[in-house]
Amino acid sequence: MNDLQQLDADGTLRHLLTLRGLDRSMIDALLDKAETYLRPTDALPARDGILNGRTVANLFFEPSTRTRASFELAAKRMSADVLNLDVNMSSRIKGESVLDTIYTLQAMRSDIFVVRDASEGIPDLIARHVEPHVSVLNAGEAAISHPTQGLLDLLTIRRHKGAFDDLVITVVGDIGHSRVARSLADGLAITGVGELRLTAPPGLTPDEADYPGAVIVDDIDDAIRGADVVMALRIQRERIREKSSLMTSHEYLNRYGLTDERLELADPDAIVMHPGPMNRDVEIASSVADGPRSVIEEQVANGLAVRMAVLAAVVDGKVAS
Ligand code: CP
Repeated sequence: MNDLQQLDADGTLRHLLTLRGLDRSMIDALLDKAETYLRPTDALPARDGILNGRTVANLFFEPSTRTRASFELAAKRMSADVLNLDVNMSSRIKGESVLDTIYTLQAMRSDIFVVRDASEGIPDLIARHVEPHVSVLNAGEAAISHPTQGLLDLLTIRRHKGAFDDLVITVVGDIGHSRVARSLADGLAITGVGELRLTAPPGLTPDEADYPGAVIVDDIDDAIRGADVVMALRIQRERIREKSSLMTSHEYLNRYGLTDERLELADPDAIVMHPGPMNRDVEIASSVADGPRSVIEEQVANGLAVRMAVLAAVVDGKVAS
């Protein structure tokens, strides 16, 4: 599906498969809408009955805690009926294809499919085959794309730093396997950013073609120096075939992890992000993850608001480019 096919003819959002191809006004509108759902710390997000009468089907063919739980909570807070398919007890285990699974749930009047899959192209494939009134939201696609994560990361950065234009944003860790980094970079390519730096251990480096405009920095200390935002990424052991090439946790933290010493190199007001789940004391020291500069729990809270905003956008059609 090309980028524009995410949008209806009137420019409103129908599917969210990738941030690529969206324009700045669409990104801003989604972030602004998410802000309307946020409440002061500890308060639940605002309720919105806009999904009353709709059914949201969560299809997670890969594990998830944050994305799945927040889509479920978001849909419930918006009065939808929510169907969480237990993939391991579903007929996919008996060999049913993903499209037959979709057609089955569509026949039960599912209106929105939230899909995570380890294979590239699955959200796109589903979006091409659903009925016109149905929307597909990508909740994590292989190492390709995680657009709602990208939006929640943009929202978190915006709430702390305001405009993106002058920021130095550094991403540290297993970028080669990261859909989170890809979607953040896609989003920043739209909003603009002062500098996006990427630094990864050998063997976990990204393909530069996937990150136009970003700067790949070999030395982690150089990458962190002066940064306004430092995001650490999980080492994705499940996607690494040659396990014998993996370092010990201690060695990884010392050589490539976000430690207190390294964080001292960043701007004094730098914030620390991590999409979760974390390997504590591997890619990020526990003291950093729990430290005063960490906004990791805010990312989670913002994720709920962002998913509410995206659900509202695809049923309401008021978020147009
Ligand atoms: N960040 C993220 O996608 O987390 P989950 O795998 O827990 O959903």
